[in-house]
Amino acid sequence: MNKIKHKTYLPVFYLLLFCSTGIALRSSAQEPLAKMKDTIYVKGTKIPAAIGAAGQEAEILTPKPGPVPKINGPKIYGCRPGHPFLYRIPATGIRPISFSARGLPQGLRIHKETGIITGQIQKKGTYRVKLSGKSRYGKDTRILEIKCGDQINLSPPMGWNNWYAHYERITDQMMREAADHLVSSGMADAGYQYINIDDCWMNAQHHKDLGRVGRARDAIGNILPNSYFPDMRSLTNYIHGKGLKAGIYTSPGPTTCAGFTGSYGHEAADALQFAKWGFDFLKYDYCSYEYLEKKIRDSLPGITSDQLMKAPYLKMGYMLKSQSRDISFNLCQYGRNDVWVWGSEAGNSWRTGADLGPELNQFFEVALKNAVHGKWTRPGAWSDPDYIQIGYVGNTNGMGLPELTRLSPVEQYSFMSLWALLAAPLFYSGDLTKLNDFSLNVLCNAEVIDVDQDLLGKCASVVSKTENTFVLVKELEDGSRAIGLCNKGETQERVTVKWKEAGLPDSSMNIRDIWRQKNIGTAAREYTAMVPTRGVVLIRVIPSLKK
Ligand code: GLA
Repeated sequence: MNKIKHKTYLPVFYLLLFCSTGIALRSSAQEPLAKMKDTIYVKGTKIPAAIGAAGQEAEILTPKPGPVPKINGPKIYGCRPGHPFLYRIPATGIRPISFSARGLPQGLRIHKETGIITGQIQKKGTYRVKLSGKSRYGKDTRILEIKCGDQINLSPPMGWNNWYAHYERITDQMMREAADHLVSSGMADAGYQYINIDDCWMNAQHHKDLGRVGRARDAIGNILPNSYFPDMRSLTNYIHGKGLKAGIYTSPGPTTCAGFTGSYGHEAADALQFAKWGFDFLKYDYCSYEYLEKKIRDSLPGITSDQLMKAPYLKMGYMLKSQSRDISFNLCQYGRNDVWVWGSEAGNSWRTGADLGPELNQFFEVALKNAVHGKWTRPGAWSDPDYIQIGYVGNTNGMGLPELTRLSPVEQYSFMSLWALLAAPLFYSGDLTKLNDFSLNVLCNAEVIDVDQDLLGKCASVVSKTENTFVLVKELEDGSRAIGLCNKGETQERVTVKWKEAGLPDSSMNIRDIWRQKNIGTAAREYTAMVPTRGVVLIRVIPSLKK
């Protein structure tokens, strides 16, 4: 264990709990209302030219990135001193692109052809780095603030998790292929970075696939991967070699949700092992810990339900922070005990509800629930509404092979729009080998991702609501607002946002259609759109520059 001291991580109570059970230690617009072509309605002093809401056909709304280099990704990046640093500059444009970074802190270097920055920063501090990408087609620059201190994940983590694609079929080979696809599909160029293994990489006592059955641990207690993961260090090296990060999964209980070896009683050894293997992310899934609750209550009669729930997460959070690499920590306990209130004491993100997979049609409700707890979201601490499930995703009830998602094209846009407004971690969990132009368009719109990754790290809040409609407003760093006009109902609905409700002055605003990456005009006081069934019209409202 290292010397880092975190007063919040070792309160006397948890020490006590640890000792006694061996378990603990974690406008108005002027009338008339004008119906423009297609389905967007607007009112305003100047009526913007409407360009239509998403239709039910799988329409690609976003212009393809051009040949000229464009640097994407967060504007801020957190890391800890003395730990390995890894950042692949996300950039679109025809390659070869020659990358450079001005103002890199001592200890970091950039690989010109790949734009991968590696090394170690020894000194805490805030470093303003000017990233550049240059090719025969042109040039782009972007400022990245590197904050070397105590915090990581200063913008919501982005990546891929295998669960809804491969379930208990996951192998080392699939993880490597996922890393290949994240790069070749262009997702990494949009900012997706983590390649995370979910459940089923360890051994189980019983399983239909005998390749996943075996000893839980070696003679000295080290957790053993199953036969489909012959060499974890080589796997993370492979992922890191592409400038990506690697994630892993376990449970605070004796077994995981799928019945594989969990970390109960071996937390310190497992945290150390994950760090030694080179992992950068851990999902900690409550599951069988539930069965220990009674035992703990019996041994500590005064224990409150909140203390009981927090203990394993504070413990593992402490263990992870004690490693010599940055490991993002995702709490997965389905939103119990108001995790949004205390999750940041232990980790960097927390699931807010049950698995969304089997109830995919509930994504509007999940978004609404997250927005209610939005004030707890901030840089380094993110509410996680579960994975993005578009394109080909596994049949969730039978853990079957990936099939085309049941969500309509409009719903897929809505899903992504809502997750961006919520500043949610953006983890795609579907089959990366079956991504088509439509799914990639939904996943990779740089302006949608900018909304998610915005420097302020704010979750949108609901500013008005009817039975089927609601308006979400997210404040952005440049003073503009990302606004979602949402309709979870079964018929199209007219939805209005008033500037006042969005915290903006009652004056002329520029309106940008984020999906189409097009300015659609100006309006004073309010904006109205006809929103298709189960749709979200996503706009950015930008105060007009004074002439
Ligand atoms: C739980 C989690 C899921 C997934 C499975 C794996 O259900 O909520 O996200 O990790 O376990 O078994």
